[in-house]
Amino acid sequence: MIIMSTKDEIVFALKEAKEQYVSGEELAKKLSLSRTAVWKHIETLKQDGYIIESSSRIGYLLKSSPDLMFPAEIQFGLQTKHFGRKIYYFSKVDSTNNKAKELVFAGAPEGSLVIAEEQVGGRGRLGRSWFSPPGGIWFSLVLRPQIVPGDILKVTMMAGIAGVEVIKEMVGLEPRIKWPNDLLIKGKKLVGILTEMETEADRIHSVILGMGINANIAWRDFPPHLKETATSMQAQLGKNVDRCRILRALLAKLEIGYAQLRSGGFSTIRNSWMEHSDTLGSQVKVETVNGAIKGKAVDISSEGALILELDSGETKAVWSGDLITLG
Ligand code: BTN
Repeated sequence: MIIMSTKDEIVFALKEAKEQYVSGEELAKKLSLSRTAVWKHIETLKQDGYIIESSSRIGYLLKSSPDLMFPAEIQFGLQTKHFGRKIYYFSKVDSTNNKAKELVFAGAPEGSLVIAEEQVGGRGRLGRSWFSPPGGIWFSLVLRPQIVPGDILKVTMMAGIAGVEVIKEMVGLEPRIKWPNDLLIKGKKLVGILTEMETEADRIHSVILGMGINANIAWRDFPPHLKETATSMQAQLGKNVDRCRILRALLAKLEIGYAQLRSGGFSTIRNSWMEHSDTLGSQVKVETVNGAIKGKAVDISSEGALILELDSGETKAVWSGDLITLG
């Protein structure tokens, strides 16, 4: 079941009418509202950027939707059971991960989605900030997996693969994955993933899967310090993409991957991750909390750790850190 506001329900009804007029009376009946209330909602939708033709005789016709990630825009045509069925939309927020964390404690169900047009305190891995102007796809998904904390990396890897596949299918770009989970195009970052969890003893209470996709951000709008290391779909393709369509496909792919993980199927994800890896086979340096380790990235363990072959011939598993490719 999709949980929607009345405004979203009106958008849905207008979209379902497929460019035909829907009478005010029909809308009022369907949503148990007065005709005046319907009219008021239509006026708000117009202020939101919807182009709706109104005729007192035949009703309302949706001509076009604004380029915003309103819940109704994401949910119309969404083919998931749980992911994105409840959406918390913000035009501006500090960080969708922070919001999702608040919602988790307020009891938000699995699959709840927090989405923002813009983040003013977007967070990246390792305490970094994440540039999140309007035009990107900034979202966090609430998960409540029955797994042990050590398995969290698998969730992130699954999300990375889902991202690669959807971006390839939807926009024709083929990102490579830099360990642990940066999606790169020609060595520049297109997508970042920040997975955070709340644990109770040795059980995971909840996981917040946060993804940031540099979609419709013009290259000139990146701050100078990111121009060398980041990219966007806009910069790569020279045109804007349909963000809602991409997110819909991603939610469907994430739901499938998540079900696969829950039934113990990490090996397919691991194989796919290895196939798209930009890291395996390279000499790397990983800055970990226990210091830097250098070696050749040779494998991913069955738990998702990166396996390094050191100069001594010894192998070492690395669980988290900042990776630099040396060659
Ligand atoms: C990284 O450092 O690569 C991870 C970046 C993750 C950014 C996303 S945007 C949506 C969600 N909210 C945040 O504050 N961060 C994540």
